Amino acid sequence: MTHQFRHDHLLTIAQLDAEDVTQILDAAEAFVEVSRRPVRKVPTLRGKTVVNLFFEASTRTRTSFELAGKRLSADVVNISSSGSSVSKGESLLDTCKTVGAMRPDIVVIRHSASGAPEFVAQRIGCSVINGGDGAHEHPTQALLDAFAIRHAFGTLEGLKVAIVGDISHSRVARSNAALLNLFGSEVRFCAPRPLMPAGADALGAKIFHRLDDALRGADVIMLLRIQRERLEGPLLPSLREYSRTFGVSQRHLELASERAIVMHPGPMNRGVEIHPALADGERSVILDQVEAGVAVRMAVLYLLAKEIGAKTPAQAAKEG
Ligand code: CP
Repeated sequence: MTHQFRHDHLLTIAQLDAEDVTQILDAAEAFVEVSRRPVRKVPTLRGKTVVNLFFEASTRTRTSFELAGKRLSADVVNISSSGSSVSKGESLLDTCKTVGAMRPDIVVIRHSASGAPEFVAQRIGCSVINGGDGAHEHPTQALLDAFAIRHAFGTLEGLKVAIVGDISHSRVARSNAALLNLFGSEVRFCAPRPLMPAGADALGAKIFHRLDDALRGADVIMLLRIQRERLEGPLLPSLREYSRTFGVSQRHLELASERAIVMHPGPMNRGVEIHPALADGERSVILDQVEAGVAVRMAVLYLLAKEIGAKTPAQAAKEG
């Protein structure tokens, strides 16, 4: 029997089970092909409106949601805090009521406050997708990462995934750990002590403070951006010191599994958390992650727009 996607919103990975994740990734498989056609459009979401409401900077998430909506023929509107009345002091609640009054079908929100997407979802009267909230969650990033991992290994089960960097401030680390735990993969968090949150093991990860130990036998090496504003402050002595002790280069691949892949959600600090040769090397799937981002976000938009749920993703992809 076909699994039913029973969610009005996508706010966290925690709300999903393994079947939901598999359904999203399978739907995304069908949509990858749409983005590779000369005419990259299907009529699936014609008449629907998607609003991208971004209160924080973004290249990948905002652009890929815009492309995903347009490739499904939705009307897509982008609102960023700098060009909107948020810059005049309008509150999140008033912005949310204003956008809701224009009757969108789906709002994608990125906000620096953890929980902002849930706050909006309770008040706006349409589907809400979390495009990244504070240090809480970034569910579509974890889904696109899972898509790239499944593409490389054919499975999300039984893998060793080392996530290295600023775990404390990382919504990507939290969402990835939650997703990979659904499939029984081993998640390793590796960071200097000041960048590891207290109780990180409760997030379903093994904790490492030495890079070599974390990378030994890893199938996936996922590097996180070191936020420059946190360097040379109270948390870390210097950029050079971080790079020397936790920066990953090609020599580290010798520690990992022979088939190891290298991932980064972006944006990267080349020469800090990742050596440029590794970022551009043959084990890197960083641009595959970006490509997967469009297909996975098409799948999420498709599954949240319930009326078209009777069609399979493959049928929807063929409609063009
Ligand atoms: N990975 C990610 O969320 O990138 P952006 O900040 O560019 O959207």
